[in-house]
Amino acid sequence: MTMPNLDFTEQRRSLEYDFHRPVYHFIAPSSWMNDPNGVIHWGGEYHLFYQYHPYSPRFGLAHWGHALSEDAINWRDLPVALSPTPGGPDETGCWSGCIVDDDGLPTAVYTGVGPQGFGQQSQCIATSQDGLLSWEKYSGNPILSEIPAISNQPYDLRDPMIWLEDDTWYMLLASRIKDRGGSVFLYRSPDLMQWEFLHPLLTGSYAKDGCVWECPCFFPLGDKWVLIVAGKGRRIPFTVFYFIGDYVDRQFTPESSGILDHAYFYAPFTMEDARGRRLLWGWLREGRSEEAHVAAGWAGCHSIPRELSLRNGQLHMTPVPELSQLRGKCAEISDIRLTGRYHDLEIQGAALDIEAELIAEGTVGLAVACAPDGEEETRVSYNPDTELLSVNRERSSQGQELETFAHEAPHHLAPGENLQLRILLDGSVLEIIANGRTSICSRIYPSRADSRGLRLFGKGRVKTLSVWRMRSIYAP
Ligand code: FRU
Repeated sequence: MTMPNLDFTEQRRSLEYDFHRPVYHFIAPSSWMNDPNGVIHWGGEYHLFYQYHPYSPRFGLAHWGHALSEDAINWRDLPVALSPTPGGPDETGCWSGCIVDDDGLPTAVYTGVGPQGFGQQSQCIATSQDGLLSWEKYSGNPILSEIPAISNQPYDLRDPMIWLEDDTWYMLLASRIKDRGGSVFLYRSPDLMQWEFLHPLLTGSYAKDGCVWECPCFFPLGDKWVLIVAGKGRRIPFTVFYFIGDYVDRQFTPESSGILDHAYFYAPFTMEDARGRRLLWGWLREGRSEEAHVAAGWAGCHSIPRELSLRNGQLHMTPVPELSQLRGKCAEISDIRLTGRYHDLEIQGAALDIEAELIAEGTVGLAVACAPDGEEETRVSYNPDTELLSVNRERSSQGQELETFAHEAPHHLAPGENLQLRILLDGSVLEIIANGRTSICSRIYPSRADSRGLRLFGKGRVKTLSVWRMRSIYAP
């Protein structure tokens, strides 16, 4: 396998003046990136792999980029881990997959895309003898290419997710059942090489959750099992769904389900770290045209990892506490009444971590990335009558080629429960989690470098508000 020789330091430096680029979220040194892959805690460090096109800001020719961290927040670039092999089953792409510990041998299982392009998907293996730095592909690749007859279509079978149970490996592959919907197929193997198809673990419905599913995650959480899938289709934009239920005798019975994020978070990946935490990563897609991101020279980044738990039968998400080490200057206010007028905050910035507890007496919220003259701003608000959390981007930017539609998410507060907002603003990234359970990962691209203000608005009470300036993880 020939590896691209890339000067990541130089690439990062050449883009550091682009204030749309996040500074504390993981992002590739330049060009195109998408899904998180094979995140694994190995020898006390987190290894993050990701879909990466080293030569272009457009999607294509997927490699596995690689980064290393002690704390899942500060990342160091490592050489590309997997590249397409000319003439091999992954000639046009090393697509998403996972890494397992095969009795001490790190083993990557991923989807190879063959010379005929996207429709030619098969599963491949590579192993590493030097602690995940360099990878050798198995000479017998692919190890699995046949699509189960029940799928009734010849193209989609990808994104292996594997776990070990009583000395047997189990694998989920994302696919679809023609004319029904997205599906995940369950397999079993004694050795990671020979796979037996068991049955679909879950199949969605075309109209509700997309016609193809991608990037399955399946794991125990509390006393339940959780399945997370990315779904897309003609009627469904890229959306991540979760299902919570019981897993008995290889059958999964969901009891509840929901939408994990209501905007650009896609291609989920979860792993259990050495501290027993279930962490979730996602790819944050762009909210601008292809022309715009090609002009910028880069596209895509990852969410801050979130720790998952179950609360009252619902999926609960918290950005990992390690993030707080990047917090710098802080401003705090408490017990302020909002009566409809704007309330400007003194602290400003394009990289902020915000925690707020609000009591909504009408629509209430926080505008971020505000220009001093009010020409640009992005409004994050909650309406207690409609019970909708929303992000209004009509005036986020005066630039062109940007998506300006609002994001909206149903958000019900229990009697006596206040609105808790966690907002991670980082250049063009706006991650919002309300009460740990409603997520909107939006993207905004203010045209002005001075669009850094913060203002409260609406009707209600601010119980507490803390805003921290965030340090860059890339600054030398
Ligand atoms: C999800 C996805 C995966 C695929 C990868 C290719 O975003 O389409 O299904 O493996 O991206 O980059």
